[in-house]
Amino acid sequence: MVFPSRFEHHCAVITGGAAGIGLSVANRIIAEGGKVAIWDRNQREIDATIARIGDRAIGIAIDVTDYRAVEAAAAATHEKFGAIDSLVTSAGITGPNMTTWTYPVEDWHRVIAVNLHGVFHATKAVVPYMLATNSGRIVNIASIAGKEGNPNASAYSASKAAVIGLTKSLGKELAKTGITVNCVTPAAVRTAIFDQMTPEHIDFMLSKIPMGRFGTVEELASLICWLASPECSFTTGGVFDISGGRATY
Ligand SMILES: NC(=O)c1ccc[n+]([C@@H]2O[C@H](COP(=O)([O-])OP(=O)(O)OC[C@H]3O[C@@H](n4cnc5c(N)ncnc54)[C@H](O)[C@@H]3O)[C@@H](O)[C@H]2O)c1
Repeated sequence: MVFPSRFEHHCAVITGGAAGIGLSVANRIIAEGGKVAIWDRNQREIDATIARIGDRAIGIAIDVTDYRAVEAAAAATHEKFGAIDSLVTSAGITGPNMTTWTYPVEDWHRVIAVNLHGVFHATKAVVPYMLATNSGRIVNIASIAGKEGNPNASAYSASKAAVIGLTKSLGKELAKTGITVNCVTPAAVRTAIFDQMTPEHIDFMLSKIPMGRFGTVEELASLICWLASPECSFTTGGVFDISGGRATY
């Protein structure tokens, strides 16, 4: 169900918004009257998305591991839209599926840099703009892997567990402001990120979901958009399961 004016006068920043879950959130916010700034490293996907969405969206090609670039993107977004009302951190990678003791050091560092440092960078750059208006919504896309620890995905699982911890800390730091901070912990959803995983790992993830199917990006966007909306006013530092029954705590 679409709420036509839920995001009227709302500007959302979406890292990784050029594809997958982030793109689905961008589409829904646009459909409900909002504006979006897509921060993504994929210039080609950004161009395609902006061409389709039109003048209520801007795209900025950045790598979220580069703090100076993220800071500049926040300034450019604020200048264009006059406010940043929500931040959805969806930029992420899986890294290879390997045991921890055989994991290449460079891949470990890259996964942590994108999935954890990228969230910190976006948070650090955006929160001062939210504090200026004493309002805002931050939604981090963690993973069920961060709660349970998937075998052959320790860098990914560790990065997502860290995002859950960051969310809880930041939520408490900002609890007396009008800014809420929450994260979601999805089980698997078929997007381009599957291309980074082995078929065996994808089968493993499906086997762990009691509903026996993958989630959809629309189902994810539904929960994320509630957390990013003004309606989410008494919930902060929260971790939201969306896993077809996989999460048991
Ligand atoms: N799809 C799933 O099964 C699933 C499950 C749980 C959590 N997640 C998380 O959801 C988020 C989105 O995943 P998705 O399935 O939409 O993946 P996706 O690959 O479809 O989209 C990820 C987007 O992030 C961008 N990106 C990657 N690294 C970047 C960087 N360094 N700087 C800027 N942009 C970068 C990519 O260009 C891409 O547009 C990720 O954080 C992922 O870990 C996904």
